Amino acid sequence: MIVIAHLSDIHIGATPESVPRAAAVMRYLDALPGDLDAVLVTGDIADHGAAEEYETAGKLLSSRHPVLAGPGNHDVRAEFRRVLLGGEPSGEPINQVLRTDRAIYAMCDSSIPGEDAGHLEEETLDWLEGVLDGADLPVFVAFHHPPVTLHTPPVDGIRLHETGRLEALLTGRANVPAVLAGHAHVAAATTFAGLPLLVGGGVVSTITLPWEGGTSFGNCVDYDLPPVIAFHVLDDEGRMTTHYRVIP
Ligand SMILES: [Fe+2]
Ligand SMILES: [Fe+2]
Repeated sequence: MIVIAHLSDIHIGATPESVPRAAAVMRYLDALPGDLDAVLVTGDIADHGAAEEYETAGKLLSSRHPVLAGPGNHDVRAEFRRVLLGGEPSGEPINQVLRTDRAIYAMCDSSIPGEDAGHLEEETLDWLEGVLDGADLPVFVAFHHPPVTLHTPPVDGIRLHETGRLEALLTGRANVPAVLAGHAHVAAATTFAGLPLLVGGGVVSTITLPWEGGTSFGNCVDYDLPPVIAFHVLDDEGRMTTHYRVIP
């Protein structure tokens, strides 16, 4: 059995509460009695993409569990790479793979520098295809922008666009248990390419839904609702289950 913790959108520097909220989540995970297979953080790590925000995020996200964090539309590739990953500050897509004993995690960069909407560059899709074709373990595919509408009007317009090649790449992949995304700041479960598409809640805030009154960015961002994270479980029969946990 594989157990993954999935959190998203910590937005360090967005609000004074961004740091304590992310810290509470990581404290919760580090206090678990057992080890997780992985902790995946699906983007919007630093609210302004600033070096000091990545320094803070790096400390907050250090854990006894393996952690894989990818970029979102609020992130800046060069600083993300330089401060968080300790690499050269290039503007190329930040595509990362984490391999553990039991699974492979492919974190794709769906950001478009300077824009809010998402896109997977050909380079990223080529890279993902290589990871999938060469995999001898289940591959969890993760990126920031959901590739479908989620009935969250403000976010739906800035979702992942031009999803045709991704859909073709994933359709029929028996070794991909699920696709994980963030960006929507609301925990959601749907499907894409015939696979579970599991969207992480926002740690920094929650976006409320139209039937709750959330119809635009002006009225949908709730900073009082507590962070929600997910535990995704892949059992030995290959079946996925997701549990959601509110972090007080
Ligand atoms: Fe976000
Ligand atoms: Fe985002």
